[in-house]
Amino acid sequence: MIDVLDMKITLAQRSKLQDISLDHLPFGKYFSDHMLEADYENGEWKNVEIKPYQPLLLEPSLAALHYGQAIFEGIKAYRDQQGNAAIFRPLDNFKRFNISAERMQMPAVPEEIFMEGMRQLIKIDQDWIPAIADHSLYIRPFMFSSDHVIGVKPSESYKFMIILSPTGPYYIAPMRIYVEEKFVRAAPGGVGYAKAAGNYGAAMYATAHAKKQGYDQVLWTDAFEHKYAQEIGTMNVFFIIGNTAVTPDLSSGTILAGITRDSAITMLREAGLTVEERPISMDEVSAAYDAGKLTEVFGTGTAATVSLIKELKFKEKIMFFDTNNTPVSSGLKKNMADIKEGKLPDTHGWLYKI
Ligand code: COI
Repeated sequence: MIDVLDMKITLAQRSKLQDISLDHLPFGKYFSDHMLEADYENGEWKNVEIKPYQPLLLEPSLAALHYGQAIFEGIKAYRDQQGNAAIFRPLDNFKRFNISAERMQMPAVPEEIFMEGMRQLIKIDQDWIPAIADHSLYIRPFMFSSDHVIGVKPSESYKFMIILSPTGPYYIAPMRIYVEEKFVRAAPGGVGYAKAAGNYGAAMYATAHAKKQGYDQVLWTDAFEHKYAQEIGTMNVFFIIGNTAVTPDLSSGTILAGITRDSAITMLREAGLTVEERPISMDEVSAAYDAGKLTEVFGTGTAATVSLIKELKFKEKIMFFDTNNTPVSSGLKKNMADIKEGKLPDTHGWLYKI
């Protein structure tokens, strides 16, 4: 057992790395040797600990299971050409995590626990960062209410944890997307902008409905009119119309403020495109397609990185995109991967060295 600052570190006696290969991994199926755990009790964070990845001992009355005070983040660590590990924009995820916490009436996690805890954890498990293209170490910080009381109220105790999963691409092939006009992901005043676990559970019914019809994911539309594009599955959406990239703006509070979305906006502008963050209706998308101006549609997300879309079904119409000819999205995907893997200079200070 080693003590670093006030964090207790207990190392695993044997690495599970001996049992798996870090090539061609599915997303989120394997977990590294260690995890971080911290408790919030009596108004303060305590028991910050890194220890071998293991099951939790929880009572059936655990508040999070009943009322869903649960939030998470998704972050990725990469290995550069020299083999050094770096995390992509983790401070932005830390800030978003506490925005989600506030919305879900949960305590803020201190920066030191989130950032330093993550850094130490990755340092210990850095051999778990895959070194092949399209692979990374997916970092999953999360927090849930941990009172053992089933009265409906904000919990008094919480658990914050970080687990790590060596991972391959989330969406492997170009996607077929169903524009959803009946079910709703988020409405103004709701929790759409928070990375609340329930947002993902609530999306599953509509996604299953789209999958039954042969689609991979839904493109959500706004709750009032089902007119404006919102986001796709686990991604933000971009439409390339002429020399302009249009992505829905965040002002309604119904869309997750993606960090990959933000990086994409910056990089597309640097590549000479005009980027507009504004409401975009499906009628506008459809008209741009008919006019031959809508050339690419793609999604961005931490897990998804930049994912190409080959089909968009809107009402009775199917819009097809040639994913062998996607200079904007493929260029963005490559350049973003190159920055993360240290092949292009990190001019924005997006890489957080371990
Ligand atoms: C991420 O991109 O990290 C996400 O949150 C998607 C996840 C639900 C797989």
